[in-house]
Amino acid sequence: MNKIILALDVSTMSEVVSIVEKMGESILWYKVGLQLFLAEGEKVVAYLKEKNKNVFLDLKFLDIPNTVAKATNEAIRMNADFITLHALGTSDMIKASRDAIDKSSSNTKILSVTILTSISEATLKTDMSLSGSIKENVHHLATIANEAGSHGIVCSPFEIETVSSINKNLIIVTPGVRLENDSVDDQKRVMTPTQALALGSSYLVMGRSLVGKDNAVDIVKDIESSYN
Ligand code: C5P
Repeated sequence: MNKIILALDVSTMSEVVSIVEKMGESILWYKVGLQLFLAEGEKVVAYLKEKNKNVFLDLKFLDIPNTVAKATNEAIRMNADFITLHALGTSDMIKASRDAIDKSSSNTKILSVTILTSISEATLKTDMSLSGSIKENVHHLATIANEAGSHGIVCSPFEIETVSSINKNLIIVTPGVRLENDSVDDQKRVMTPTQALALGSSYLVMGRSLVGKDNAVDIVKDIESSYN
């Protein structure tokens, strides 16, 4: 139940309110990313919390440990349920964020991003000087993140098994899901919600498959009932 995180990829509070009102009790989790946070700021998080929703604050921190620890404290203050970090920020940075959480009484959880799905194997070598396949790099970075205290990993559904083999208790959050008859848009490799959940995804991030659809509430109910 409540395994769907709806991505609020919009720029205005009024769009947020209309999505949240339309989805009602069918959606518990909302993702606030850079676009919405830069446009409307903290009041979006406050609004979602006031509506008793869980917030996935997807700002993908990547900075020196001290700065990330302080940013984590602000996310804790806002009562964010999930925050994201780049595992490329190294274990010192992830540990600093985890320490900030452990020093507080908050339930905020860290999700680490390994290799962005927009990065190809060729770019990994040319621009980042990283050898090995995407899968090897995902495995390596997820292992570091796990050991440094990350509670979970954001990954493509195709990487679920790689990540769960490291630690079966990691929270696995997967974007890149599409309903069978949906357009793929700019997503390159996609799975259906049922396939991703069967492979062990803890939460699905869904945007365009729900937003703008008249029957979005029914789609959510169908996915949830196929799982339960
Ligand atoms: O509309 P769609 O379902 O493709 O939206 C997916 C959401 O997940 C967007 O907010 C997108 O930025 C995010 N995301 C993604 N792929 C990743 C990481 C995040 O699509 N690898």
